Amino acid sequence: MTDTRLLPPTAEGIAEAARLLAAGGLVALPTETVYGLAGDARDDRAVARIFEAKGRPQFNPLIVHLPDLEAARRYARFDDEALRLAEAFWPGPLTLVLPLGDTPVSPLVSAGLSTVAIRMPAHPLAQQLLRAFGGPLAAPSANPSGRVSPTRPEHVLDGLSGRIEAVLDGGTCGVGVESTILAPGEPPLLLRPGGLPAEALEECLGRPLVAGGSADRPSAPGQLASHYAPEAPVRLGATEARPGESWIGFGKLGGPRNLSPSGDLVEAAANLFHFLREADREGRPIAVAPVPERGLGRAINDRLRRAAAPRP
Ligand code: TXA
Ligand code: MG
Repeated sequence: MTDTRLLPPTAEGIAEAARLLAAGGLVALPTETVYGLAGDARDDRAVARIFEAKGRPQFNPLIVHLPDLEAARRYARFDDEALRLAEAFWPGPLTLVLPLGDTPVSPLVSAGLSTVAIRMPAHPLAQQLLRAFGGPLAAPSANPSGRVSPTRPEHVLDGLSGRIEAVLDGGTCGVGVESTILAPGEPPLLLRPGGLPAEALEECLGRPLVAGGSADRPSAPGQLASHYAPEAPVRLGATEARPGESWIGFGKLGGPRNLSPSGDLVEAAANLFHFLREADREGRPIAVAPVPERGLGRAINDRLRRAAAPRP
């Protein structure tokens, strides 16, 4: 349990929020849409804790929040059309799904995909905190999984008190629904309707958007979270590697690549995508030790089952 603090919307409150984030902590921040549960998008452990705090049973990709276009261009690749959209609608309630840029974020943020969702919030406190922190913040809505998104600090405390370090008090969020999510391209895909009307995007692009399914199951090729899987076959619930297999351990079933020697599920989640990639590069079948089906273990097992599922 963490003692969750309510930080005032002052220079001191913002500085303290930035300090907590730099130390790997989680801070709920007001945006113009809803409150976001922010953690350092470069820090595997902080991102794993976001999923733990929300009780999310799956590692769906998170939105990366940045203060300006210059910062955004380090983390994602913008073509001319993406630049046009950013210039027209940022800062504001639009999230763009774009190819990953040169500067990495935790693979937990992009759920192992080759794209990343980027948003530049308009709320002055979000802007100030992003500048004070000086890095990318992963921030899903600050509610437990399956509950409605919070638009007031009390809503955040209701759901997440004791699970996060602080809430930055920004009063009531103006827009009240999440950002619109767009994947530019041919055709441009509307992955989630939200605070920015689709008509405004269509006018800017000069052509209609195609509904890309729900944001949790984007239908564009390569964007479906379940498409991410190692090339190699994956065997789950293994007690040891058979000859010729690469190994990913957990707890006492250790070895050189152990998700968490102490059995800590946050540490295991933080290591998961790195280890899957690393094992995959060895080009052999991969055997994975059992991971308990509780807390973050459910999201870890969900991802492992997808990795082990027969390929289409
Ligand atoms: O208004 C908002 O956007 C709020 C505030 C806090 O900024 N944030 C928010 O984040 O709603 P979140 O993490 O709850 O929503 C992320 C959505 C997910 O449904 C996810 O599927 C989609 O964005 N998403 C993220 N990255 C993606 C990607 N690479 N490809 C497709 N969809 C992606
Ligand atoms: Mg949400």
